[in-house]
Amino acid sequence: MAHVAISAQRIEKWFGEGEARTHALRDVSFDAYFGEMLFIVGPSGSGKTTLLSVISGILRPDGGRVLMDGVDVWNLDDDELAAFRLAKVGFVFQDYHLFPRLTTLENVAIPLVLRRYRWDEALSEARKYLRIVGLENRAQLHPVKLSGGEQQRVAIARAIVSQPDILILDEPTASLDGETGRTIMSFIRKEILSERRCIVIVTHDARILDMASRILDMEDGRLKAIEIGAAQ
Ligand SMILES: Nc1ncnc2c1ncn2[C@@H]1O[C@H](COP(=O)(O)OP(=O)(O)OP(=O)(O)O)[C@@H](O)[C@H]1O
Ligand SMILES: [Mg+2]
Repeated sequence: MAHVAISAQRIEKWFGEGEARTHALRDVSFDAYFGEMLFIVGPSGSGKTTLLSVISGILRPDGGRVLMDGVDVWNLDDDELAAFRLAKVGFVFQDYHLFPRLTTLENVAIPLVLRRYRWDEALSEARKYLRIVGLENRAQLHPVKLSGGEQQRVAIARAIVSQPDILILDEPTASLDGETGRTIMSFIRKEILSERRCIVIVTHDARILDMASRILDMEDGRLKAIEIGAAQ
């Protein structure tokens, strides 16, 4: 039996007040296992990004709990949670969240610098990952000079450079052309996924769905179904 990487248990999340009050997550429970690539699909506004934020320790839920590698993450204090996320989790945001004042190369190197790599070692490792996503010739540019798809690839390189045990990707191919998206996701499936790692991906991209081990289908804040994927 595979080891549970993430256990989401009866998650509830509300946003806003009064008439704007939204029940964004309604009693959502699932397990994600090490060794699998779990996809989450569903219409816009169904709660996918909210769910990723809750399971990765970014957004505190209003109910339920999240165990990550057995640790009850929302019971940690802020410093413990930050350290835990740094050690375990890579995240690609739907809107990239690159550091505007750093170059492309420095953006990718940051997770290694935080893990106390020497600066020159961090940069040389970051350069390898920029090459993997096809951006070695953009290393010295700042994010504002990059196209949306290029920024998305920098965000992917930054999430995988430290080889995290748990990799969480929100629409990682939305701004990429079909071939580039598939090439990068195939690399992640082949080179990053292992028995010791778990990858969770939100996507609308039908061209990469065949890589899924399992597919969670969300609708209106609820988990509607869990299907076995083609790559199981
Ligand atoms: N910070 C916020 N404040 C208020 N409401 C929010 C906030 N974040 C999300 N919501 C609401 O919660 C619901 C779920 O949003 P979420 O971003 O999780 O959807 P999604 O499935 O990721 O959609 P998309 O496919 O468009 O990215 C939506 O109704 C949204 O308006
Ligand atoms: Mg979203």
